[in-house]
Amino acid sequence: MHGYNVKTLTQFIIERQADFPYATGEFTRLLYHVGVAAKLVNKKVNKAGLVDILGEAGNINIQGEEQKKLDLLANWQFIQALKNSRECCGVASEEDQEIITWDDELSQDGNYIFCMDPLDGSSNIDVNVSIGTIFSIYRRISPRGTKPIMEDFLQPGNKQVAAGYVIYGSSTMLVYTTGRGVYGFTLDPSIGEFCLSHLNILTPDDGNIYSINEGNYNHFPEGVKKYIEYCKQEDKSTKRPYSARYIGSLVSDFHRNLLKGGIFMYPPTASAPKGKLRLIYECNPIAFLAEQAGGVATDGVRRILDIQPESLHQRVPLYVGSKNMVQKLQEFL
Ligand code: AHG
Ligand code: MN
Ligand code: MN
Repeated sequence: MHGYNVKTLTQFIIERQADFPYATGEFTRLLYHVGVAAKLVNKKVNKAGLVDILGEAGNINIQGEEQKKLDLLANWQFIQALKNSRECCGVASEEDQEIITWDDELSQDGNYIFCMDPLDGSSNIDVNVSIGTIFSIYRRISPRGTKPIMEDFLQPGNKQVAAGYVIYGSSTMLVYTTGRGVYGFTLDPSIGEFCLSHLNILTPDDGNIYSINEGNYNHFPEGVKKYIEYCKQEDKSTKRPYSARYIGSLVSDFHRNLLKGGIFMYPPTASAPKGKLRLIYECNPIAFLAEQAGGVATDGVRRILDIQPESLHQRVPLYVGSKNMVQKLQEFL
C-alpha cells in the first residue's frame, strides 16, 4: 500500500499551539486564515497568464510605484482573510497609505496586528518569475476592544510573534517562524493543502552566493563596493569567486540563499538614499526568519530587529544572510 503520510499546515499549527504558554487558539486561527489567503492568491497567480489580471491597475501606490492588478488582488485577499479570522484588529500594508481597522466589535477585540507586503517582486509578474507575499504579526499594545493605534504598528521587529512568506514559484511554499525555528510547507495542489516539507530550516554559516542589483554599483557605499570586489576574487579556500544570483524578488532571492547559503544586499543608492526595502513589511519579517535560521540581518550599523520604526512606510538598507558572509561584509563597511 502506498498511502500518503503528510502533516498539513493546519495540523502542525494546532500541535504547536501547546508550545505557547496561555495559548488560547486565537493565534492558531489567525495563522490558519493566512494559509487560506495564500492558497487563494496562489490560484490567481497561477492563472495570471490566462485571464486579464496581468499588468498595471492604473494607480500609483503610496511609494509612487505602479500598482499591478495582482498587487491589489493579493492585498484584498489577505485583508479579507484577516477580517474573517476575527483575531486581527488591524492591518498595515505596503499597498495602503493608512492602517486598516474595522468598526465591528469582534475585530476590535482581536489581539493581533498584521503587517504585509501582499505581492513582493511585482516587476516579475508579467514574465512568469517567482513572486511572494511577506507577513509579520505582532501582539497589540493598545487595549483589546478598541481600534488599534499607530504605536501598535511601530513596534520594533524584536517584538514580532510570527513572520513568514509565501513564495509562488515552481511550487508554492509557505515558510514561517514563531520564534522557535523556521518551518516550510509546500502546497500540494492535488489536495489543496500546505504540507510540511522543511523541518527546522537552518541556513549554512557560509555560502557562495551574493545577491545584489549591481546596476546600482556606482552609487553604493565604498564598503559595499569593496565587498563586491572581494566576492569576485579568486580564493579556493573560501569558495571564491562567489556566484552572483539576483532575481529581483526579495522573497525568492532570500529563499534561495536561506537554503543554499548566501548574502542578499540592498544598500542605499542615489534613487533610494535610505535603501529601497521597507522596514515593516519586508526587512523585519525577513530578519526574524534569517535569525531563526541561524543567519544575520543588519542595516550596516544596527541589527534590523532592534530598529525602532518611525513611520509605517520607512525604508532601510538591508544586508541579510549567512552569518560569516554578513560578518565579512561588515568588516568592509
Ligand atoms: P515590491 O514588488 O513589493 O515593490 O518589492 C520589490 C523589491 C524586492 O522584492 C526586490 O528585492 C527589490 O525590490 C528589487 O529592486 P531592484 O529592482 O531595484 O533591484
Ligand atoms: Mn516587496
Ligand atoms: Mn509589494
